[in-house]
Amino acid sequence: MALRISLILARGRQHLHQSGPEIGDTARSPVESLESPIQAVLTVHFLPMTAPRIIQNPAELDALAGGCFVPTMGALHEGHLSLIRAAARSGSQVITSIFVNPTQFAPNEDFDAYPRPVDRDIKLAGEAGSDAVYLPSESSLYPEGREASIDLAASLPIPEVAKRPQLEDAGRPHFFGGVCLVVARLLEQVRPSAAVFGEKDWQQLQVIRAMVASDARFQGIEVIPGPIVRERDGLAMSSRNASIPSTHRERARGLADALDAAESAKTPADAESAMRTTLEAHQLAMEYAVIRDSETLMPVADLSRPTRAIIAASLDFDGGSVRLLDNRAIPIAR
Ligand code: PAJ
Repeated sequence: MALRISLILARGRQHLHQSGPEIGDTARSPVESLESPIQAVLTVHFLPMTAPRIIQNPAELDALAGGCFVPTMGALHEGHLSLIRAAARSGSQVITSIFVNPTQFAPNEDFDAYPRPVDRDIKLAGEAGSDAVYLPSESSLYPEGREASIDLAASLPIPEVAKRPQLEDAGRPHFFGGVCLVVARLLEQVRPSAAVFGEKDWQQLQVIRAMVASDARFQGIEVIPGPIVRERDGLAMSSRNASIPSTHRERARGLADALDAAESAKTPADAESAMRTTLEAHQLAMEYAVIRDSETLMPVADLSRPTRAIIAASLDFDGGSVRLLDNRAIPIAR
């Protein structure tokens, strides 16, 4: 617990000034020149402790085993913080990890340029309810070294839902091997009873669910999904949104607009064509925009099962490009 002390100077019932950080200023308040008696009221508030414990040595995680785990790559925004808040509501101790994972980036991707505002992240994670922030060293997660871990990630058997649907994996074949390797190693170190993953990365969520369900080491770990948090205009929050130039920001709405367009379609084919047209209208380069079975991510064969629209598209501009993902549950009318 932390204490906040505030001093209220009042004449009768009328508050003249309430202190806070500016208490020094209020001491010179006009109160001194008033004739009637002045009361000083001192109040003490108990606030939740906001400075989380920082853990770098995995041995220190033993004391937190059985907690609720939120793995991240940092540059935290409201999407991440909503997962930490959800973990805090579970009532367990919350451990947030921050690690920019080299094995899930291809050589041409933005590993070095990925933002790393660590002090700010630690503060935000604590305010959202994280009891501990785990900052693993690369050598504790990958004792075999960078090159060997990249090779290992590429050869790791990973769940079918990572490869068969030909979505993220089609353009980024290294990606899910790297995600599975790092999440498995983090789960082994943190040994949580639950872990929270965002629906923003829908395929990643299904891959992690499948990996946890099929691996004896992770039996009993509950995978908790967190809903997508969006900007006011509907754009799903992402650490990469900051790279969109303001002059092109309007185009980024195209993904949410495409999902809206898919909602009114009558068949998966119509929905896919409506999404394509909307992305083109916003000059977004479509990678995929599909209606799939929500769990297997395969083309929809059985309309009685939940279906989902899933999009990946790039917003290209002079001097750069930002890859955007989005998805939404879209029940196809039958
Ligand atoms: P990162 O992109 O930092 O995301 C961490 C978690 O936050 C993921 O579960 C992601 O789905 C979730 N998230 C991101 N944006 C969100 C939003 N707008 N709304 C809700 N949740 C959101 O995903 C990763 O890191 C990595 O692949 C990781 C799992 C940490 C493995 O390295």
